Amino acid sequence: MTITGRIAFSITLIINMPIPHISAANYNEDKVPKYNLIDPLKMRDGSPVTSTEDWERKRRPEILNLFREHVYGHSKKKPSGLKFKVIQNDSTALGGIAIRREVLITFARNEETPEASLLIYLPKGKNGPFPTFLTTNFYGNHTISSDPGISITRSWVRNEKKWGIKNNKAGEQSRGVRQSRWAVEKILNRGYALATIYYGDIDPDFDDNFSNGIHKLYGKPKPNDWGSIATWAWGLSRCLDYLENDNDINAKKVAVMGHSRLGKTALWAGAEDERFALVISNNSGCGGAALSRREFGETVKRINTSFPHWFCDNFTKFNDRVNELPVDQHLLISLAAPRPVYIASATEDKWADPKGEFLSAYHASPVYELFNLKGLTSPKQPKSDHSVGHNIGYHIRTGKHDVTDFDWEQYLNFSDLHLK
Ligand code: GCU
Repeated sequence: MTITGRIAFSITLIINMPIPHISAANYNEDKVPKYNLIDPLKMRDGSPVTSTEDWERKRRPEILNLFREHVYGHSKKKPSGLKFKVIQNDSTALGGIAIRREVLITFARNEETPEASLLIYLPKGKNGPFPTFLTTNFYGNHTISSDPGISITRSWVRNEKKWGIKNNKAGEQSRGVRQSRWAVEKILNRGYALATIYYGDIDPDFDDNFSNGIHKLYGKPKPNDWGSIATWAWGLSRCLDYLENDNDINAKKVAVMGHSRLGKTALWAGAEDERFALVISNNSGCGGAALSRREFGETVKRINTSFPHWFCDNFTKFNDRVNELPVDQHLLISLAAPRPVYIASATEDKWADPKGEFLSAYHASPVYELFNLKGLTSPKQPKSDHSVGHNIGYHIRTGKHDVTDFDWEQYLNFSDLHLK
């Protein structure tokens, strides 16, 4: 096994092991500690936020900076060496219903820095420029569809025996293995383009003391500098830099979407980059949509221990004192305002605290109301498989931690309201 392989293997072992100094996850609503949530419409110094100008000029920057400083870390500016090259454009993709385009993104001339491949599907026979879903994926672009024309990633990938992924190298065996999570045809039929990038092209997802991926270009982060989630979000912004120059894309109508750790990433990308017109978080849980103060399912301490590279080091200071965090995740959702945001949970995804995800969305509502937009009006979680909300959308789907056609159906309906 290569060194990277060994590291990744040990990490898989560590994540699956009980962590002795961390108490077992709480799944009992009666044991959720009492907590007070921070008022989104009150400055840290206690002064009230009474206008949209106050929000835009003072409170939003204050909250954003707190998240940068204590949770995700400060990101870097876009690199001067950033370059895009269209490496394929095939108008016979997916049985002729799509144009498949691939764009090679390079970040610097230095050969040791990563390069990323942005895969774009455009609906054929429809008039663009198209509103677009931009997302990160877990195992490589070639896993989202069995389309034989998608290039296989050359970056580090997590080993997965069932798909024949060994030595952290992807191959033909994993083509299309994740297609159930990507309603590609449905998205195209509804008149949207789909753009996706493999997150490992930006930063391989294991703790290597920040020496690989994009960190290599910028050096080892300080305790308040970007962890991996922030780098993945930054990667999405670099994709948007490209999309702004693609005539087939309506770059003013790009929805950023992600699942799980990549749902956390989508929320942070939407917070950092207001060019994203709409934000969608699917089953993002702790460090995503779920309220940290509820300590239900995965906790801040647990996530910082299992995934020390995801957040900035400062976040670990709050492992045992989440109540002292100067933010909670409803404030992350509020950073999307006044843009539409959609949060989705799944009934069996207790680890991600579905109720905490819903409450975050609910408690972001006052910010939308400040803009005269309707937030979520009831603090009661809606019944399963039923989408609610206009500017803040929410549903809890029956089933497990996953992305299904039902989820995509809701995202498409919600996007139709705002991007069409
Ligand atoms: C783990 C992790 C979660 C994360 C999930 C995923 O379960 O604890 O925080 O959302 O992986 O990204 O698949």
